[in-house]
Amino acid sequence: MNLTPIYKGKVRDIYEVDSETLLIVSSNRISAFDVIFNEEIPNKGRVLNTISSLWFLYFQNQKSKIFPNSTLQEKLNFKTHFITNDFTQYPKKFQIEKFKDCSMLVYKTKKIPFECIVRGYLAGSAWKEYKETRKVCDIRLPEGLQLGSKLPEILFTPSTKEEAGHDTNVSFQYLVNQIGIELAHKIKEISIAIFKEASIIMESIGFLLCDTKFEFGIKDQQIYLIDEVLTPDSSRFWKKEEYHLGTNLASYDKQLLRDYLESIQWNKQPPPPSIPKNIIEELIKRYEDIEKKLKLALTL
Ligand SMILES: Nc1ncnc2c1ncn2[C@@H]1O[C@H](COP(=O)(O)OP(=O)(O)O)[C@@H](O)[C@H]1O
Ligand SMILES: [Mg+2]
Repeated sequence: MNLTPIYKGKVRDIYEVDSETLLIVSSNRISAFDVIFNEEIPNKGRVLNTISSLWFLYFQNQKSKIFPNSTLQEKLNFKTHFITNDFTQYPKKFQIEKFKDCSMLVYKTKKIPFECIVRGYLAGSAWKEYKETRKVCDIRLPEGLQLGSKLPEILFTPSTKEEAGHDTNVSFQYLVNQIGIELAHKIKEISIAIFKEASIIMESIGFLLCDTKFEFGIKDQQIYLIDEVLTPDSSRFWKKEEYHLGTNLASYDKQLLRDYLESIQWNKQPPPPSIPKNIIEELIKRYEDIEKKLKLALTL
């Protein structure tokens, strides 16, 4: 049967299953600086799909560490788009081998067109902004922070989600003007709470959660956590024992690839350079290591 995705993202393909649901298929593609590389990372799609699924199920079913009497979903009154990643539960025509273990069935929502970025440490574009202005997304920060510094408080730094090109950081006020004060506060609150919860769990398996990105959608007037969550693709994880300030902190996730790209001074425009074999192998190892540890931490 010939199935055509309704959307091909940088890393994932989206199929419309019916009027209510989508199938999100994670590929082995890898992107950095919004450019997709020619090489694939074997097994990456399956690992990322598993990691997101584990988090969705955790928020839904397990008592939260920061609100001990309820699940995060109950406490913060949100839902997740996750329905199942068990391929035998998919409608028949989607039960094809290539979707097995690397896809999930989700509720279709109306996307809120912003990326909800949360930061516990200063890195990436926030570090660049801080160096120049002492601010991040219009939030003034103290003098003297370094690359990798733990932030005085967890920051919510939204950015636009562009159909093409790079996303731009915006102020919280801008978000309020675009989507309304109530919704803006709500998705900020949910994002920060999930970040705190996830930081505790990541620390217990030896990682610092530097920053991450969430997306939300609306369905039946309810807020849904959508897309992928707390994967190495949407987050910066640092190995606790490697944490130090100042120099470019070798990150456990895709930063490895980013650092390589910086080192060859690629101008970040297509065509992408090729990724050396040793980097691909190290990336696979790292994805699988995080998956293994999270499985233990989230399915107790
Ligand atoms: N439940 C959902 N409802 C609607 N859109 C979704 C849902 N979950 C994810 N998406 C969208 O599907 C796409 C996933 O593909 P991705 O490879 O991340 O592409 P992109 O390059 O647009 O980020 C994103 O645009 C994301 O916003
Ligand atoms: Mg995306």
